[in-house]
Amino acid sequence: MSSGVVRRAFIAASLSLAACAPKARSQAPIAIPPLKSFAPFPVGTCIQAAQLDDPAFAALVAAQVSQLTPEWELKMEYVLQKDGGYRFDAPDRIAAFCADHGLRFFGHTLVWYYEKPEFFQQRLGEAYRSAFRDAYAAYITAVVGRYKGRICAWDVVNEQITDDGADWRDSLWSQGLGRLEHMRFAYELAHAADPGAVLFLNDYNLESNPKKRGTFMGLAEALLKAGAPLMGLGTQTHVNADLAPGAITAAVKDLASLGLKVRISEMDVSLARVPGLANLRADLQRRQAALFAEAAEALAGLPAHQRFDFTFWGLEDSQSWLRRENAADSPLLFDDAGRPKPAAAAWERALRP
Ligand code: G3I
Repeated sequence: MSSGVVRRAFIAASLSLAACAPKARSQAPIAIPPLKSFAPFPVGTCIQAAQLDDPAFAALVAAQVSQLTPEWELKMEYVLQKDGGYRFDAPDRIAAFCADHGLRFFGHTLVWYYEKPEFFQQRLGEAYRSAFRDAYAAYITAVVGRYKGRICAWDVVNEQITDDGADWRDSLWSQGLGRLEHMRFAYELAHAADPGAVLFLNDYNLESNPKKRGTFMGLAEALLKAGAPLMGLGTQTHVNADLAPGAITAAVKDLASLGLKVRISEMDVSLARVPGLANLRADLQRRQAALFAEAAEALAGLPAHQRFDFTFWGLEDSQSWLRRENAADSPLLFDDAGRPKPAAAAWERALRP
């Protein structure tokens, strides 16, 4: 029997099992204390300035977390204008909200392969090398310098490893300044602009792809050897609900092996991205809760000086970037009405056994 037939038979069998399962009792509402009140590390979420216009959401954020990361408004795509100027209205607003509510402000991100602004593309090529370097240095110095003393840390370099895990990415930045040099220089500039900020290297799929994790660790070691003031490693932990138990724990343990600070930087657990099994929602929700709990235990299990923060890439499902891909996805701890889900209770139990 072909594997496709076997697979379809498995799914059919599972679906019929699920169909005859007793109707799930309507769940009693879940009540949990604010996330930051019991976590042994700062708890964060990403945010967009306009979300602060909603008083209910602003109150939920201020109550639940102790750190905010601009979801996109401190990236080059927002800050750098076509004429080379900068705009900071949105990140300034988030910084002010953090200051007003005693929250930490986390900078994301300075150097990302994904961004290829025209302003820099026009300065590529041997003849423009110094102009490219000057513009790069001016950007990082201006952006980091603006929040000096008001920001706790930066994702200086983001997603530098290829998806197959084999190598460092080629990017506008590596073309302009060199494979390792563009990164080394970015850390040097960021440290000079704000000596008090903790400087991170951040990437994704480090749980599901051990080869990528190994290449990521190799890059961290290369940066340290080159004298870059790299101080922390972030694993984004955008995972799917069918991720094998133990994968998150292994990733956090490996990241901690260099003795640097470690953060869960962007966690969400997609149900909809699970191939073919999206119908077994109850099972996927159980797996989702277990993965959030595993990540909490993994970070809590590190020495206190290495636990930097645990950031969710959103608090309420309705705000998740994953909803743009599938309106039915529910990857976060709180539902569309801001109510805690079973995953939130599992995360609490993991930290308050
Ligand atoms: O809000 C504007 C809207 O006014 C405008 O009309 C529209 C069209 O230009 O853009 C809207 O802004 C978009 C923003 O998301 C808010 O929805 C930006 O174009 C879009 O680029 C931005 O996407 C963000 C993406 O990174 C790229 O910056 C996502 O929100 C954000 O969740 C995602 O986050 C990344 C992390 O930085 C790195 N790790 C992966 C993670 C998920 O992709």
